Amino acid sequence: MAVEWSQRLPKRYAEATVASLADNFSALADWDWPQGKGPLIHGPLGIGKSYCAAAIARQKFHAYHVAFVSVTSWLEDRRQSMNGAEIVRPELEKARLVILDDLGRERPSSWTVEQLFKLIDDLYVAEKQLIVTTNKQPLELAGHVGDAGFDRLKELTTCMRVEGESRR
Ligand SMILES: Nc1ncnc2c1ncn2[C@@H]1O[C@H](COP(=O)(O)OP(=O)(O)O)[C@@H](O)[C@H]1O
Ligand SMILES: [Mg+2]
Repeated sequence: MAVEWSQRLPKRYAEATVASLADNFSALADWDWPQGKGPLIHGPLGIGKSYCAAAIARQKFHAYHVAFVSVTSWLEDRRQSMNGAEIVRPELEKARLVILDDLGRERPSSWTVEQLFKLIDDLYVAEKQLIVTTNKQPLELAGHVGDAGFDRLKELTTCMRVEGESRR
């Protein structure tokens, strides 16, 4: 059975497989969700973090709904619908696993911090499984999601540093 994408996977990652992950991603290829925690994959640009998140979801979340959330696009959508719409939209509600892709790429403002805190808090209380990708150092993320958001991220994820050369 295929993964159900409640938030579409970008075409670029549509065929991602765990088997094709390079050695620098081996700890992620074998990820077994210790205490239910997902990986917070951090490392330089272009090494394959988003690809890896997609591969894990495609191959380890068969028969579940998964949402691939580009944080930048999500914030853009929020900005355009400033009508107090719910943060966790139906697509996210259905998802068992949520991928927050490229967290910390946005330039933080009090508005983005508040939005991202609320998003993470909603995912936290709904007990979603989470994969985060970022090219920030984990500690820097506190400046993007607030101290309370960062605290929740620490409970939901385990930091995994990946080094390597950009594939782009
Ligand atoms: N294991 C892999 N096999 C084939 N292509 C890959 C692999 N990992 C990454 N890529 C490709 O390399 C490019 C950069 O990967 P991406 O995941 O977007 O990097 P990052 O998220 O770390 O910036 C993308 O085009 C992606 O599809
Ligand atoms: Mg990426």
